[in-house]
Amino acid sequence: MKCQRTYYSEPLTLVRGDGAYVDDDRGRRYLDFFAGIAVLIVGHGHPKVRAAVHDQVDRLCHTSTLYLTEPMLDLADYIVERAPSGLDTVFFGNSGTEANEVAAVLARHFTKAPNFISLSDAYHGRSVWTVGVSGLSAWRNFGEESSHVAFAPNAYCYRCPLGLKYPSCEIACAKAVERVIETAPAGGVAALYAETIQGVGGIVTPPPEYYRIVKEILERHGILFIADEVQTGWGRLGHNLFGITDWGVTPDIVTSAKGLGNGMPISVVLARREVSDAYGGPHINTFGGNPVSARSALATLEVIEEENLIENAATVGDHLFRELTSLADKHPLIGEVRGRGLMIGVELVRDRATKAPAPEAAEQVLQACKDGGLLVGRGGAYANTLRIQPPLCITKAQADEAVRIINGALTVARAKYATV
Ligand SMILES: Cc1ncc(COP(=O)(O)O)c(C=O)c1O
Repeated sequence: MKCQRTYYSEPLTLVRGDGAYVDDDRGRRYLDFFAGIAVLIVGHGHPKVRAAVHDQVDRLCHTSTLYLTEPMLDLADYIVERAPSGLDTVFFGNSGTEANEVAAVLARHFTKAPNFISLSDAYHGRSVWTVGVSGLSAWRNFGEESSHVAFAPNAYCYRCPLGLKYPSCEIACAKAVERVIETAPAGGVAALYAETIQGVGGIVTPPPEYYRIVKEILERHGILFIADEVQTGWGRLGHNLFGITDWGVTPDIVTSAKGLGNGMPISVVLARREVSDAYGGPHINTFGGNPVSARSALATLEVIEEENLIENAATVGDHLFRELTSLADKHPLIGEVRGRGLMIGVELVRDRATKAPAPEAAEQVLQACKDGGLLVGRGGAYANTLRIQPPLCITKAQADEAVRIINGALTVARAKYATV
């Protein structure tokens, strides 16, 4: 059968999921440390989420956004009560891409400015506009470049785009936003998009000072801050429901999707009331916030709270981070381990001194992990970063099992790819 390109040379056909595990059509079981693409936040087939979906299918499956539904209202209330303060209006959609499209519409109406700033190596979706605000070159190959988008350097400390070192750099990448604003095309800048931690870009994790400096610059210029929490929302980073809260700033707009529906398609845009009021016009999205997805999302958020999954993400995430970091002692292929909570990147290099990227090694490790019974992701500007973004319910024992498999995969790859 011909099918779209998948991660593996021999495509994997999955038939069942249960917690942190998935089974394929040959009866093999895998620890799922990529959770779809960072989606199954409370794990596969959670009984409470399943029950909510079944119940809603029997009641009402679709209305469009022309009407309100109880699940949509309940979900909006639940999210707004826990959102960064002041973000009290909600727009529903189906995907992260749609959420980032809506964010641009809101920002333009509010500021009356046409231009946007984004970061190098950013990923914000697959529509023409969201590819245009994505800095990651691998996804910019169809000529979607927009004259309304300017890029600022990302906070990629391991490979600083400005050639500096943290902390003596004094966060020059954040301060560089000022010059990008000053040299932006005519008409002014509406907003800056930033993923709290860049996911597809390779789990690029800004230092603690970064967003406070950026936000202060934006405020001085009357520019909105759109925090793309598509991957970092819903507790993935441990500590808070919204990852951006960890950096001590309140965005003007938050976009999110992925984990929210635990596998059912749903996205959300949260905005300050005056920002959404400036838009005014009806928010039409045929499937956006449909009742089945909204029930799934509400049940998912309740499970996160009831089962203390944010705390678990912090505790097990720290443990996993330490174990992966200690793997670096015996694997020179590991250039850096970075991330927060259960969003961890392991960047592979051929040589630690030159930091020459090792994408072939990453490819082999991905395959070898699968053969060993572990699914992980891959990303980064050089496609050389392993992405580890499991459900938030994983145990320490499962984390240890994943590290054991990654260790085996790196041992095989080392002989072939590490030059030192
Ligand atoms: C940070 C970020 N924003 C937006 C998107 C687009 O989301 P979707 O694939 O649901 O359209 C993604 C998808 O990976 C993402 O990682």
